[in-house]
Amino acid sequence: MSNNKIIVGNWKMNCLKKDGGNLATQIRQSAKNSANVIVVCPPFTIVSEIATILADSNIDIGAQDCHYEEKGAFTGNISPAMLVDSGAKYVILGHSERRAYHAESSDLVRKKSLAAIKGNLIPIICVGESLAERESGQAKQVVEKQLVESLPENSSNFIIAYEPVWAIGTGKVASSGDILEMHNFIASLPICAGKPILYGGSVNDANSVEILAINNVSGLLIGGASIVAEKFLKIIDNLVGG
Ligand code: PGA
Repeated sequence: MSNNKIIVGNWKMNCLKKDGGNLATQIRQSAKNSANVIVVCPPFTIVSEIATILADSNIDIGAQDCHYEEKGAFTGNISPAMLVDSGAKYVILGHSERRAYHAESSDLVRKKSLAAIKGNLIPIICVGESLAERESGQAKQVVEKQLVESLPENSSNFIIAYEPVWAIGTGKVASSGDILEMHNFIASLPICAGKPILYGGSVNDANSVEILAINNVSGLLIGGASIVAEKFLKIIDNLVGG
């Protein structure tokens, strides 16, 4: 694996055309010399708009979910083909907010992952334990189960994101030791062999350098700090030459 990192901004349910457009324009400008993989994941409504702004740049577009069917009577859902048609190359799947608020099971995440790959998207598949699971010493078991049940065949092209649920949007980052232990553990599982493993959960411009230096951390999945231009740009700036 190269030293280049994968930096993914998950905009969640934020940004209208204007603010999303401004953010994308600033990222485009700031990242133009970056050799790293930079991906922004806007809400569905502006995927196409942001793809136009980032056309012919070194920044890729991702979406935040997709359905597992190609088309049909699924009111309110979006297929992989629709995302590709709108300019997306990646899709976040199994984010803990989808698992919690939309009752998404690992089985469903796996079905979506297979459909995304078939539809030429690269899934970024999220896993992570709750605080209660960590405190009761079950973090690795929980994460392994989620991985085994959510991931497609190792031979396909996908990215893993480890996001401890208690670290998402809380300002509480996992310690470097905990991140190291979990990323080494994930990397050691045959189903994950050779796959990039991102860390996510309260990553910001003040802690990104330290987290990226941890063994087996291939990149970052960033929520809150990815929609604050100066923070996201600083995270990218810190990468250059690093
Ligand atoms: P956060 O979100 O950076 O705001 O903690 C991360 C995520 O949910 O992907």
